[in-house]
Amino acid sequence: MYPDRDTALKELNIANEMNPGGWAEHCFHVGEAAKIIARHAGLDAEKAFVCGLLHDIGRREGVMKMRHIIEGYNFCMSKGWDEIARICLTHSYPIKDIRKDIAPVDITEEQYNFVDKYLQETEYDDYDKLIILCDSLAVANGFCTLNLRFVDTTRRYGVFPFTLERWEKTIEYKEYFEEKIGQPIYKLLPGIEESIYW
Ligand SMILES: [Fe+2]
Repeated sequence: MYPDRDTALKELNIANEMNPGGWAEHCFHVGEAAKIIARHAGLDAEKAFVCGLLHDIGRREGVMKMRHIIEGYNFCMSKGWDEIARICLTHSYPIKDIRKDIAPVDITEEQYNFVDKYLQETEYDDYDKLIILCDSLAVANGFCTLNLRFVDTTRRYGVFPFTLERWEKTIEYKEYFEEKIGQPIYKLLPGIEESIYW
């Protein structure tokens, strides 16, 4: 289950009022990228858009690190949106392992163990892969290349032993969708070339 686009947009607006920041604009662009790629790849574009819009919805609860994934999961489950709740948990993990998160741990041991088990038991589907990819194709200003986003994120969070592994996996997801689409994803995202001037 997942909400329609109007409900998702309304929730994103409410969340941005609760915790204002560029994160909500980032989410909007992630949704747009996901919608465009989904349409070309033969996936459900409406579902992809809503997944992108709400992947960081846990940030409605305030400024937080790893905790935003569990807050997003809980919020979506309380609404009955299990397909989005899943995305809230998986989007932070190009490598399907909670130990390979770049965000500081600000959740309880019980929550940590829950996410750990959830990731181990989940096989990524196309929507998990798509939102992980699109999370790295957009910042608040609009669409960007993976290279730009990787540097942006690494400057803010720092370098980890598994940083390269995360980049490689995200590039693999890009190539996975490009194989389905038959053309470079960057050609599908309007204004992406503007990102070189940021
Ligand atoms: Fe996130």
